[in-house]
Amino acid sequence: MQASDHSLEIAPGCLWFRDALDRAAQEQLVADIRAVIAQAPLFTPRMPRTGKPFSVRMTNCGPLGWVSDETGYRYQSFHPDTRRPWPDMPASLLALWAAHAAGAPPPEACLVNVYDAGARMGLHQDRDEDDLTAPVLSVSLGDTAVFRIGGAARTDPTRSARLSSGDVLRLGGASRLAFHGVDRVIAGSSSLLDGGGRINLTLRRVTVSA
Ligand code: SIN
Ligand code: FE2
Repeated sequence: MQASDHSLEIAPGCLWFRDALDRAAQEQLVADIRAVIAQAPLFTPRMPRTGKPFSVRMTNCGPLGWVSDETGYRYQSFHPDTRRPWPDMPASLLALWAAHAAGAPPPEACLVNVYDAGARMGLHQDRDEDDLTAPVLSVSLGDTAVFRIGGAARTDPTRSARLSSGDVLRLGGASRLAFHGVDRVIAGSSSLLDGGGRINLTLRRVTVSA
């Protein structure tokens, strides 16, 4: 896989590769992620302190996975319910990283976010990683998301972008710590997923490589 030359910088350092994955590549990724979910079932994360459930369900693959519960946000090597190690990262995701994050050390975590009807994600920063030099790669599958991105301060102005199935977004450089979130998902906008909804994958480097 090669990164397309046609990227759009939607915030400083944030590159939007539209239609980076063709339909066959999207179907392959969905099959790979279904296999991950079969081994590491989706769980409902909860907010630190309050325990309020997220509207998005999650799982992970790779040596580390991101989890959240009353005690806080963290990476850990095992599923919070089954206590089993996360499944391996599929080759399709490693290829995607090689194409869009060339030069960065290998990814250690792929967070799988599943958006059913009505799910959204509030503005936040991805800052639980020790390595903040590697980019975060985000892959959209299924229904279109109204994605929002701002700057490194919560009060910075934001802009929105409609992320469609097959789009890849690279949050690097100045956008690595940019606030971002998903306002809503547009039901019925894609035929990729049986039953509709959206799957977002975010690939991250977590530890600082030696
Ligand atoms: C995330 O920030 O973890 C998810 C972003 C998205 O779903 O597009
Ligand atoms: Fe995020």
